[in-house]
Amino acid sequence: MREVAIVSAGMTRFGELWESSLRDLFVEAATEALENAKVDRIDSIYVGNMAAGQFVGQEHLGPLMADHLGMAGVAATRVECACASGGVALRSAFLEVASGASDLVLATGVEKMTDGADVTAVLATAADQETEAYHGITFPGLYAMIARAHMQAHGTTDEDLAWVAVKNHLHGAKNPKAQFRREVKLEEVMKSSMVSEPLRLLLCSPVSDGAAAVLLCPLDQAKKYTDRPVKIRGVGFATSSMALADRKDTAFLDSVALSAERAYKMAGIGPKDVQVAEVHDCFAIAEICCIEALGFVPRGEGRHAARTGLTGLGGKIPVNTSGGLKSKGHPVGATGIAQAIEIFEQLRGDAGERQVRGARIGLAQNMGGSGASSVVHVLERV
Ligand code: COA
Repeated sequence: MREVAIVSAGMTRFGELWESSLRDLFVEAATEALENAKVDRIDSIYVGNMAAGQFVGQEHLGPLMADHLGMAGVAATRVECACASGGVALRSAFLEVASGASDLVLATGVEKMTDGADVTAVLATAADQETEAYHGITFPGLYAMIARAHMQAHGTTDEDLAWVAVKNHLHGAKNPKAQFRREVKLEEVMKSSMVSEPLRLLLCSPVSDGAAAVLLCPLDQAKKYTDRPVKIRGVGFATSSMALADRKDTAFLDSVALSAERAYKMAGIGPKDVQVAEVHDCFAIAEICCIEALGFVPRGEGRHAARTGLTGLGGKIPVNTSGGLKSKGHPVGATGIAQAIEIFEQLRGDAGERQVRGARIGLAQNMGGSGASSVVHVLERV
């Protein structure tokens, strides 16, 4: 396999973007990535997208997006893995370049969630239809059950959950692309309206529009496009039972642990080597479970990390410096690529007020459903 680098990135602001259609969002992000690398021809495009068919009635995204980018003719296809669609699109692009099949591949993600669809019902299609969604469970409901299980097993409290939101809003306030650029206080989080007990409004990621894109090429060609390439050093992808009830331990995300194990093995590193990470905090409890499964903290200890500053800017392992899904926003298909872009910027020293000084190795972890799929990328400054 060839070594692969990310050489440029492009991303829209995340939020309720009424003025932009699905294709507008894609073209904005993809054009920025191509212009940053001064490239006008590529070999192929992967479009990470969870549910454009249901959100805006549009399927067959590969050719549509290639055409609107002015690139009709290139190979282009959609990649779907629920909220992990973007991360899996990145993996597909990585494999295509690593295999030697292509030299320039655009990995993208896009979602337009605010155009009037029943978002909660569409998102629930990423749960087990027969044993979960049919009976009325929603995604806030599924993660509420994970939170309850974690509380029971490890003594996690409402306040522990709230600290995750406080931290991520603090980070997001420093991110010009974030949906919510405001800090929130602990009390405000703990008094926000109840969505699905114990998850309150400010413990949930929002409904968002947005797109993101990164350009990949073989590492030995990267200097043609940038003086600061970032190598993809490890990739791990894993699945678990779709239905929560089928998992051995509801409070542990085994697909995250397995995907991390695979990515660490390929990269030849361990969790202690990671200096900055983006993890899938679709709900505050998810960040706590993810940092445990990634090995940043021992199992059951994730609840302390945000409160003690371990995962904050300036902490030992800053997590979700972009604001995470909580504050930056979560246009589901775009999220995995946006996470990789935050790490790309951190490793290049381009993260502005959010910069983690001297970061050389970073990690992005993107999850589908209630943890039925997870994909991890380990990136390294060259
Ligand atoms: N965090 C912070 N503020 C939020 C928010 C969130 N997650 N969601 C909405 N808001 C704000 C809105 O900006 C709005 O503020 P305003 O009155 O100042 O304009 C207000 O809260 C009400 O917004 P609204 O859109 O009416 O909220 P809602 O009740 O319809 O939706 C949730 C709130 C939490 C139910 C919705 O954001 C949600 O479903 N989130 C989870 C998405 C999800 O499951 N993703 C997949 C994960 S696997």
